[in-house]
Amino acid sequence: MANKKQLVILASGAGTNVRAICEHFKDHRRVEVAAIFSNKENAGALKVALDYGIHAESFTKNYWEKGFVQIAIESFEPELIILAGFLLKVPKAMVEFYPRSIVNIHPALLPKFGGKGMYGMHVHRAVHESKEAETGITIHYVNEHYDEGSIISQHKVAIDGNDSPEDIAQKVQALEHEYYARSLARILN
Ligand code: GAR
Repeated sequence: MANKKQLVILASGAGTNVRAICEHFKDHRRVEVAAIFSNKENAGALKVALDYGIHAESFTKNYWEKGFVQIAIESFEPELIILAGFLLKVPKAMVEFYPRSIVNIHPALLPKFGGKGMYGMHVHRAVHESKEAETGITIHYVNEHYDEGSIISQHKVAIDGNDSPEDIAQKVQALEHEYYARSLARILN
């Protein structure tokens, strides 16, 4: 059988999206998660790697900015590099080396509520304060600006008048777990 397409995941947080992606591809015939990298040595995402027997590495911001992590990633010859709650900016050199091969998920309907500092609960609080009628997720390619690469897909959910930021976060997380891996599978086809 031909070699499987390799995925490399970058994550900074709890890793619930990493888990959903690993679960989706765990017995896949043509795709496998090759490695999970994190800029936080205690990231839940690295524990997920352990659960699935996937190569895991943490790194410092300095290593990231100097391009050493990119070299480590290249050794896995990834078809896609997946950002799943990854909070560092992707350097221009890396974006240029991997055109339309780095994918991010953002927990809102871009171009609204994106940009520097807009991550996790900051996003959901901003959505709540703006009294939006709906929110959702955006899956997009990464360019050298935060949250500005071309959009692959968006999925929406209604916000009830009495939803708290935490309720909004829960609704968005459900969408992420339902759609991110499926959307990646479609890109890989
Ligand atoms: C996810 O909601 C993801 O969309 C968000 O971080 C969370 C990570 O959760 N990403 C951003 O805000 C990027 N701007 P997880 O670690 O449980 O997957």
